[in-house]
Amino acid sequence: MPIERKRPPKVDGQPVKADTVERDGDLAPQRQPGDVAEPSLRPRSLAEYIGQDRLRMNLVMMIAAARAREEPLDHVLFYGPPGLGKTTLSFIIAQEMGVKIKTTSGPAVERAGDLAAILTNLGPGDVLFIDEVHRLRSDVEEVLYSAMEDFALDIVVGKGPAARSIRLSLPRFTIVGATTRPAMLTAPLRDRFGAVHRLDFYDTAAMLQIVSRGAGVLGVHIAPEGAAAIASRARGTPRVALRLLRRVRDFAEVHGDGAIDAAVASDALQLLEIDALGLDELDRRVLLTLIDKFEGGPVGLDTIAASLAEDSGTIEDVVEPYLLQLGFLERTPRGRIATRRAYEHLGRTFTLRAEVAASRQSSLFDGQ
Ligand code: ADE
Repeated sequence: MPIERKRPPKVDGQPVKADTVERDGDLAPQRQPGDVAEPSLRPRSLAEYIGQDRLRMNLVMMIAAARAREEPLDHVLFYGPPGLGKTTLSFIIAQEMGVKIKTTSGPAVERAGDLAAILTNLGPGDVLFIDEVHRLRSDVEEVLYSAMEDFALDIVVGKGPAARSIRLSLPRFTIVGATTRPAMLTAPLRDRFGAVHRLDFYDTAAMLQIVSRGAGVLGVHIAPEGAAAIASRARGTPRVALRLLRRVRDFAEVHGDGAIDAAVASDALQLLEIDALGLDELDRRVLLTLIDKFEGGPVGLDTIAASLAEDSGTIEDVVEPYLLQLGFLERTPRGRIATRRAYEHLGRTFTLRAEVAASRQSSLFDGQ
């Protein structure tokens, strides 16, 4: 049965504009209302945090240095596909710095005045987490420039000839920005972050630890093979792993004694239509559209999205990163191409036309 996708109205408790890119299938890496309900699954310190080793070491060092100097942490930008821990890390940063955190998102800040209100309410050293920071309106972003750089707000009071600008000083604070689309950030905003970190998909060992830790927090008994089955199908994304874990736990409670062994995990994942590599129904539909309707491509993102009646941002931000990582898809200047691996995984014969398209693209790239 196809997964029903509906838009959750909030991101981390903040209202989200209707055009926000969301993917709401049960297994999507995007945040879901249910994810917020169990925050205890999130690690609360860097010591508890699994994976992203280089990033974690950098943060440990940066935080230790800022604390020793008794200064607020420099502004930090996290980018990467959804569900990898950008929000979690921002909460950990606040916790490790011993400060408060406020959260908002680019589309939620509608006017420059809204940002001014948020900033003037921050205490010294506090963290302001801005999710989807690339979606800030340009007038709001401009207010943020002087706030981030000089810890000051330039406000125009009055109208017409009597208008004058006053400078309001702010306590020193830390902005933690998060984006799935770093290329959409303006250079002046990007340059104001003192540390910029990419989050990568987690490797299998890290995913296994995350599933086992999650099961421990939920009080679920899980056999190593059960944890491995979930970890290997969670597309390198902790949020997906923890959501799968909850669904497999439901299955285990209904069909057994609540314990998750290899057989329970495998049956539950089959019912959820997650294949051996963690591809779900939408991933497969994207690839099959490319292969069956467009002979493997190249075909433009918008054409794929239109023929699936899906949002192109969802496909670009959520579906494609994992397919690219698996080597199932190539992004080329002329459009998307399904690779031989994708054909093989989906049991389709790699056609001559697909071969020609793929080799034409690689020779185009070789010549560049
Ligand atoms: N839960 C979700 N992500 C996690 C991570 N990176 N480490 C530990 N627990 C997690």
